[in-house]
Parts: sequence; structure tokens; C-alpha cells
Amino acid sequence: MIDDKLKIAVFASGNGSNAENIIRFFREKGSGGEVVLVVCNRREAGVVGRAAALGVDVAILSRDELADSGRVLAMFEARGVNCVVLAGFLLMVPPYLIRRYEGRMVNIHPSLLPKFGGKGMYGHHVHEAVVAAGECETGITVHLVSEEYDKGQILFQARVAVAPGDTAADVERKVRELEMRFFPGVIARLGSDD
Ligand code: GRF
Repeated sequence: MIDDKLKIAVFASGNGSNAENIIRFFREKGSGGEVVLVVCNRREAGVVGRAAALGVDVAILSRDELADSGRVLAMFEARGVNCVVLAGFLLMVPPYLIRRYEGRMVNIHPSLLPKFGGKGMYGHHVHEAVVAAGECETGITVHLVSEEYDKGQILFQARVAVAPGDTAADVERKVRELEMRFFPGVIARLGSDD
């Protein structure tokens, strides 16, 4: 439990629908919690435009820049970051950052881990694998981040049926609905916001 208001850094590499949803959730919740920084490794990613449009600071960091612990930790301390949220971040998070935010760094994975996790399992690859395997359900997993990828303590899972005729795109849509509905609330429960 974080004993002060959540100051969240969101890491994303893609479209940013989760990042935007989380930013809006904490603004509307009026709980004092807020997203104070969005970190992205790709200037052209959709999340950059979404965060800027919402007036949230964005840091574009390459793999090498992310490895510069002094610079990154100073950037986070300056904003009082006490919680890190990975929402489709495609670089490995450096161990120094995982250790610094032990128990306060969460990741969302678009399947029911441990199924369809691990190397190469991200985005549409996950949904394609779920359909190819003939699964009758899928879902989301929110877990603490440990130094072993996708292996941290599971905090929350939500499930949805996969219909026989579902395509990977259908599954992605169903999973995204779960992400939008549940992810911000799971993050809020990390802080004294619950
Ligand atoms: C989501 O499907 C999430 O589960 C996964 O990466 C995707 C991010 O999508 N980790 P967006 O950038 O938030 O739209």
C-alpha cells in the first residue's frame, strides 16, 4: 500500500488507449492521484499525442537513455513518482527501476497468465495464439513487475468468452473492453485511494 497519493508514471509504446483511460480516470476520480509522466520509446507512437493533448508531460527515452539510472530517477523524483504502470511498453524495464519501484510497478498483459505469456507474446500475437489454440475464454492479467518478465505476483484477472467464430480482432476488442473497465481501478487500489 502506498501511504500517500498516487503519482503515476505510465510507460507505453503504442496507441495509448490504456494510458489515456488511466489519465482520465484519476482526473475524474478526484482522489488526488494523478498521472504525472508518460514515458515512451517511440516519438511517433499514438500515446505521445494522447498524453500531450491531455497536458501530461511526455519523456521519449531510447533504450540507452532508459538505462541511465541517474537521469531517469532524477526525472521521477522531481515529479514525486511513487507508482509505475506498464501499459504496452515494449522495451525490457531495467532492473534498477524494477528494484526502485518493487511492489509499486504493475503491468497489464492481454491474456490469462501464465497462459500466452513470455517472449514475443504481446499485442495481436497474444490474440492470434488464443484463437489458434481454440481457447473458449481469455482475459486480462494485471501483475506486479518482477525481474523475470511476466512472472510477477498476479493482482487481478478478468475473463471473457471466446466464441467459436471469433477472429483475433474480435478477441482484441473484447480484451480491450476489459482493460478499459478494470485496469485503472486495480491501479487505484495500490494507493490510499481505495
Ligand atoms: C494492450 O493490449 C495491453 O494489454 C498490452 O499492450 C496494449 C496496449 O494498448 N500490454 P494501448 O497502447 O494502451 O492502446
